[in-house]
Order: sequence, then C-alpha cells, then structure tokens
Amino acid sequence: MAEKKSVTVTDNRNGNKVDLPILTGTHGPDVFDIRKMYSSLGMFTYDPGFVSTATCSSYITYIDGDEGILLYRGYPIEQLAEKSSYIEVCYLLLNGELPSAIQLATFTANITRHTMVHEGMRRFYSGFRHDAHPMAFMLGSVGAMSSFYHDSTDVTNPRHREISAHRLIAKMPTLAADSYKYSMGLPFNFPKNRLNYSENFLYMMFALPTEEYVVNPVHAKALNSILILHADHEQNASTSSVRLASSSGANPFASVCAGIASLWGPAHGGANEAVIRTLEEIGEAKNIPKFVARAKDKDDDYRLMGFGHRIYKNFDPRAMLIRDACHDLLEDMGDYDDPLFEIALELERIALEDDYFKERKLYPNVDFYSGIIMRAMGIPLNMFTVVFAMARTVGWIAQWMEMMDDPEQRIGRPRQLYVGKAQRDYVPLVDRD
Ligand code: CMC
Repeated sequence: MAEKKSVTVTDNRNGNKVDLPILTGTHGPDVFDIRKMYSSLGMFTYDPGFVSTATCSSYITYIDGDEGILLYRGYPIEQLAEKSSYIEVCYLLLNGELPSAIQLATFTANITRHTMVHEGMRRFYSGFRHDAHPMAFMLGSVGAMSSFYHDSTDVTNPRHREISAHRLIAKMPTLAADSYKYSMGLPFNFPKNRLNYSENFLYMMFALPTEEYVVNPVHAKALNSILILHADHEQNASTSSVRLASSSGANPFASVCAGIASLWGPAHGGANEAVIRTLEEIGEAKNIPKFVARAKDKDDDYRLMGFGHRIYKNFDPRAMLIRDACHDLLEDMGDYDDPLFEIALELERIALEDDYFKERKLYPNVDFYSGIIMRAMGIPLNMFTVVFAMARTVGWIAQWMEMMDDPEQRIGRPRQLYVGKAQRDYVPLVDRD
C-alpha cells in the first residue's frame, strides 16, 4: 500500500495531534490540507495577506517566482507573447487548450458579436461627473451591466455563464474607450467588428468623427502583447476578490466589479499609473539617488512603484518581455524619444545594484515598463489601469468559471483572531464617565 503522506501538527500545550494530508500539484510546492484542523485541534491558522495559504486548486496559471516562470495552461508566457494573439489566449485561458482554426473563428465571432453596449448604458453614463477617473467609470459601468444584461445572470445555468463571459470580454474595450471619451467630453465611437481586439480598442479610443483614423499596426501589436502579459496571474488580490465575491453566488458582472475595485489600488494594477508619476517626479537621472534613499528610509513609507512582487523573487518575466517590447516600439517609432524611458532604465540599474533592493529581492515588475509603452502609444495616464482591467477580465472570468465547476467550492469565509474587548455589560448613558 502506498505510504500516505501527511504533516502532523501537535499542540505542545496538551499533546493533542492531527495528521494533515499533503497534496501535490503538477508544479510548485506541496500543500497540506488544514480543513480538519479546527475540528481536531480547535484552532485556526493565522496568515494575514495569505502569504502561506493556497485558497483553491487551479488548472489555469502557474507561477514559479524563484525561476521567473509564468505559464498559462502550461504554455510559457514568452511563447504566447511572441506567437499568439490576445483572443487566442482568451480561448486558451477559458477552455484549457489552444483552439483549432474553426474553434478560433467561432470564438472570435462570438466575441465580436457582443462588442456593442446597450444604448441605455450610454444614457446611464451621464450620471458620472464630467471629469470622473476612468477607473471609477469602469467600476460603475461594469456593475451596471448586471441590470442591462440581467438575462445572463443565472450563475447556475452554464449557458448564462458562457454568454456573460463573452459579453464581459467583448464589451470591456468598448466601456474602456467610452470611459476615456466621457472624461474628455468627446463623442463615443461604436466598435468596428472588422478590426481585431487590439485594433478595435485603439480605434474606439482615438478616432474622431471629424477625421479619418487608421490604426497604427505597430501600436496594435504592442497592445496585443500588453494584453497577453496581463491576461491572468493566478490568485492575486483582484482575482481572489472576484472568487470571494462570486463564492456567494453573486453574478459575474458584480463579481468582476469587485476585481476592478481591488485592481485599482496602487499596490496592484494602479502601480502602472503611479510608476509614471514617480518617473515624472524624478524628472532627471541625477535625482534618482534621492528617491532611492527615500524608498530605503525606514521612517518614510515611500515605495518605489514598479518594484517588488509577492511571488517573483528573481525577476518578473512579464517585465522582461515588456521592456523588450518597449525598446522595439520606441525603435519602430523612429524619432519618438521618451526621456522617462531613459530615467526608468537608469533607475532599474541603480536599484538593482543597491543592497537594500538586492537583499529584499525587489526587481522591476510588469508595471514598471507597461506605462512607458502605453505613453508611447498615446494612451493617457489615467487609462493605464483601465487597460490592465481590460486585459485581466478574461483571467477573472476563467477563474470564476473554474470555481463555479469546482465541487469543493464553498462560500469564502475567512476566520480571525479576535483581540478586541472581552465580553462586558452595556452601561446606560447616565452611568458613563
Ligand atoms: N520600494 C521600497 N521597498 C519595498 C518595495 C518598494 N517598491 N516593495 C517592498 N519593499 C520592502 C518593504 O518595505 C519590506 O521591507 P522590510 O522587510 O525592511 O520591512 C520588504 O520590501 C518586503 O515588502 P512587503 O510589503 O512585505 O512585500 P509584499 O509581498 O507584501 O508586497 C508589493 C508586494 C508588490 C505590494 C510591494 O513590493 C509594493 O508595494 N511594490 C510597489 C507597488 C507595485 O509596484 N505594485 C505592482 C505589483 S505587480 C503587478 C500587480 O500585481 O498588479
């Protein structure tokens, strides 16, 4: 009989023990299953920030942070970024395999057919302040999809799940471009279904009714890479927010809204906007040491945005790819020269030689270069996190669909260590000091 592998946890106060089974995945560290722990030992585990806790098993994405490996459904990100299209990656993430030619054509047609948004939504937009941040607009409008597309919100119905997945992936670029047009007071564009996913977004963002607009193929290629690199990243904060929100049975539009809210924060997707603000603040390469010193100062909570990652402790493969794509784009653009790119390269060099960053394994992450590339394409700063949200929508949806089919899925309900007041009696107002 095969040896049953387990971890034994002993409570040293009373000698009580529990054997916890070890589970092994395809790659990565084993985990031990603590579900029996409370019933056996009467104790919970304590892990703020989920540093040592796997919240689910997943077939979708694998990261090896020490080796700088990122796989979508087993395929290395480098190969997908070089050879694939974003829409093919969407199919892969959702279905587990690369599509055949017919499957790809059918999937593309399904997405394309759903790119327009309900006209009522465009009237709904007018409730936003004229200068609303596009991420605020995205939160409101994706949440509002639950009311405009109520006919696909029965999460127990697989066909509803599929339709809402297609709707979210298809309409995200339209909503994203609308968020920008609204913030600028410009007329909205309808999607053009003869264009591919990236081209269509650029068209809706930049075309004006008064002028001919031709999508720049170099920009469309760069955007395709950005979208692929951001498409999924296993159980990060926004994806976990989507899983937690939908674990109660909430509809996918509401759940993706939870993901957008989490992504907006500067420690997560909001970092791409924050990086550019930092580079602008630095202004010139000679000022870099001042900012690095601030980031290292224990009494200053200032952080260098675009550096560090919970999991990547060697390099972020997405940052490498995006830095190369950035070089290529700037070269292709001939006389376009961005002084911020030079500052970014120098900041990376100085930080990587610094003991503080070396000891803590702080390397540039995907957000460090994604802003430079989006700037070069003319995408405004406040749209950077929106582009990230657009790209990550498929990851959120793939993870949500996986969770809905997982027989082990239960409502997410973390426990806590209560350190507040012990039980006490109510004191009437007149008796209080
Ligand atoms: N600048 C200076 N010091 C840093 C930085 C930074 N960017 N990041 C981490 N540290 C220090 C931190 O002060 C701590 O030092 P000490 O051990 O002396 O207390 C140590 O490194 C470990 O940091 P942590 O906060 O415990 O690490 P974490 O895994 O909880 O946080 C992180 C990861 C990404 C939130 C963090 O590195 C950070 O805030 N980076 C800047 C924001 C950023 O670029 N976010 C984008 C992440 S990648 C894309 C995405 O996920 O959306």
